[in-house]
Amino acid sequence: MSQAGQIVAEVMRSLKEVIRVGATTKEIERFADNQIRSLGGKSAFKGYRGYPSSICASINEEVVHGIPSSKKLREGDSISIDLGVLHNGFFGDAAYTFPVGKIDEETALLMKVTEEALYCGIDKAVVGNRVSDISHAIQQHAEQYGFSVVKTFVGHGIGRQLHEEPQVPNFGPPGQGPRLRQGMTLAIEPMVNAGTFEVKVLEDGWTAVTADGKRSAHFEHTVVIMPDRARILTKFN
Ligand code: MF3
Ligand code: CO
Repeated sequence: MSQAGQIVAEVMRSLKEVIRVGATTKEIERFADNQIRSLGGKSAFKGYRGYPSSICASINEEVVHGIPSSKKLREGDSISIDLGVLHNGFFGDAAYTFPVGKIDEETALLMKVTEEALYCGIDKAVVGNRVSDISHAIQQHAEQYGFSVVKTFVGHGIGRQLHEEPQVPNFGPPGQGPRLRQGMTLAIEPMVNAGTFEVKVLEDGWTAVTADGKRSAHFEHTVVIMPDRARILTKFN
């Protein structure tokens, strides 16, 4: 899992080079897929429940599961890239919201707070806590700024499958759900909206957008539960 996570991290890091004004999400996908393969991995998403692409690329009000297309990125957009890799029988999964050129202040704050919320969740991902301690920390942090957390999509266990038990919601009271034990591997992935938490799925059957058209951000890491601090397997700079 560490190797799968490192491939995810390396590809995510390299995406900064291709995410710019004028690039299409299809070009970004092709670049990512080539990188994944050259590092010895395989996309975890292509073909998953019929999903047609190697990555998810969700722009602005798109929350998650955006399908790469010939649509060009514009100055001020925010783009969430979700990337899953299979390597030697194990999965890694991460997401990151990138700015395109210069973004407005509210978008910058939304992105910052969502990434912070992910780390608030990771802080609670330690031996002896319960799953919903992660959930609660994420929700608290995001709502403190007047943002809302998406409830329709949740984090998950990960390992030999992309999605395993338990579900890891981004909301809820603390102290509930399974006890966290050393070596458990989770994909923690807050999706935070600037406005309403409600989302709808477009006619393509995949792309989830905010119901009010305001922006959304998405950050995700695959982590291993340890006694003092979770180890992040998909960390990149
Ligand atoms: N990170 C998301 C998840 O774990 C992405 C899944 S995309 C899909 O659900 F295409 F594979 F569905
Ligand atoms: Co995931």
